Amino acid sequence: MDIAVIGSNMVDLITYIDRMPNEGETLEAPSFEMGHGGKGANQAVAAAKLKSDVMMVTKVGDDLFADDTIKNLAAHGINTDFTQKVAGVPSGVAPIFVDTESNNRILIIKGANQYLSPEDVDQAAEQLKSVSLIVLQLEIPLPTVYRAIEFGQQHNIPVILNPAPASHELDFDYVCKCDFFIPNGPELEILTGMPVETDEEVYEAASTLIEKGVKNVIVTLGSRGIIWMTKEQTHRVESHKVAAVDTSGAGDAFIGCFAHYYVQTGDVLESIKMANAFAALSVTKRGTQASYPDMEQLRQFTESRKVTQ
Ligand code: RIB
Ligand code: NA
Repeated sequence: MDIAVIGSNMVDLITYIDRMPNEGETLEAPSFEMGHGGKGANQAVAAAKLKSDVMMVTKVGDDLFADDTIKNLAAHGINTDFTQKVAGVPSGVAPIFVDTESNNRILIIKGANQYLSPEDVDQAAEQLKSVSLIVLQLEIPLPTVYRAIEFGQQHNIPVILNPAPASHELDFDYVCKCDFFIPNGPELEILTGMPVETDEEVYEAASTLIEKGVKNVIVTLGSRGIIWMTKEQTHRVESHKVAAVDTSGAGDAFIGCFAHYYVQTGDVLESIKMANAFAALSVTKRGTQASYPDMEQLRQFTESRKVTQ
């Protein structure tokens, strides 16, 4: 097994809007799409689309979304041995609003994801021991995230933590035990309390994390590119100019693709470049998982844009 994602799944309810309605106003929106989402599942699917062997430790409810979610993971070849149903609880859902500039606003109702416990990590231990990388986000309870980080440490398995959605309660002692910490701009701002409007500000905010002992900080800034910082060096990778229609799930696309290439090559900068291309392709299509390219589409794009690999 290459990658274990211990995290969330949701059903995305995406409304494409011209503008948000005002209080008391009823407004017609141009269109709506429903799809499989959740930051954990998105990252798992992104890696699986590139043919990584992925397992997912996650929980669904017992509503009409549950079986469909499991079916979707399995259809992507993701191992669902540790994807469990919780009785009497709804599955996670995410109402998403995408504006005419392709920007997204996301609400999450965690549902069954709230029930993914540290014991669920323990239960999967035998299988988890065999993975090359663990990938985590914050749509599940923090104690579960911490247990997974400890597990990674005990078994010498590198851990990626995507602090999304950002939580002030996040304990940086655990963050320092992760190999990669991958926030987006707004998450970096919330977690450091520092502005991230300019590159200089991002460098300053990220360096406070490095000073705290975080090993690799990779900040995904959408059209402003990516900044990767360690104690020794800082790299900046430009984003690709594309015709964006829907940016939701682009950060997850980046992380799943980064995880895939990092396991395959161990080369961080090359993995960032591939993930940058993969995420760029994802914003040219509607939806989250539904917009992720496969290996052949990624290859064509990276060749046309001369991304090295
Ligand atoms: O990062 C995008 C994801 O956030 C969506 O798929 C939604 O389900 C929420 O988890
Ligand atoms: Na998209």
